[in-house]
Amino acid sequence: MRIIFTEDYEAMSREAAKIVSGQLYLKPASVLGLATGSTPVGLYEMLIQVHETIGLDFSSVTTFNLDEYVGMSPENPQSYHYFMQEHLFSRVNLKPENCFVPDGMAEDLAAEGRRYDERIRQAGGIDLQVLGIGQNAHIGFNEPDIKFEAMTHKVRLDDETIRANSRFFARAEDVPRYAISLGIRNIMLALRVLLLANGAKKAEAVYKAVCGSVTPEAPASILQLHRDVTVIVDREAAAHLPAEWKREAVYTF
Ligand code: F6R
Repeated sequence: MRIIFTEDYEAMSREAAKIVSGQLYLKPASVLGLATGSTPVGLYEMLIQVHETIGLDFSSVTTFNLDEYVGMSPENPQSYHYFMQEHLFSRVNLKPENCFVPDGMAEDLAAEGRRYDERIRQAGGIDLQVLGIGQNAHIGFNEPDIKFEAMTHKVRLDDETIRANSRFFARAEDVPRYAISLGIRNIMLALRVLLLANGAKKAEAVYKAVCGSVTPEAPASILQLHRDVTVIVDREAAAHLPAEWKREAVYTF
């Protein structure tokens, strides 16, 4: 695991944009796994800038998003599909037919999960998976549980996640209770993983992910078993990590 210590959100986003741009430069037909939420917005803004200024090319890139709320159509402004259109898809030269988000409107969500897994497989698997982290250490919508859920599946969101995500909705009651999410095995199958975390609210989750025991009660902790993970944290999110690690800008172990 490699941890990049940065000062603030902007620096975290910049480091992440370098890694994603480097990936696309080396492999233009990369398959990217993407996250929504507030964390990757700065990364997406910077990728748009790199696209506009030096022509970072997305024309052969395929993307798979981690998750979608159940019952939300792509036209719904609260949907993750809509979020991605707004923050990335419509602003770079990605081909619409190469951008995938799980279908939260599918009648049979188990079948949709299998279809999504198969699409990823047919695309050759995920080269680089971008992740945020929940305050409860969830990744995707893999909530703390007694076991790791393997592949794309329907999840009931934790009360803590519903509370955290209510900031994007008019009322907490409006936050959907269910989502469809990539599973832990899908994430672990990605060749490279990039986990971003900023702000004091994420400090505990980052500690559990990096220093805690590997347990489904802190889903991000599984990343300790992945062979190519880069964690980029800002100062606040790194608050509980050992001080001696922070003497280096990049700590590898
Ligand atoms: C989003 C996702 C979630 C978020 C996490 C953090 O697609 O899968 O795991 O990354 O909830 O959300 P923010 O970035 O809003 O703090």
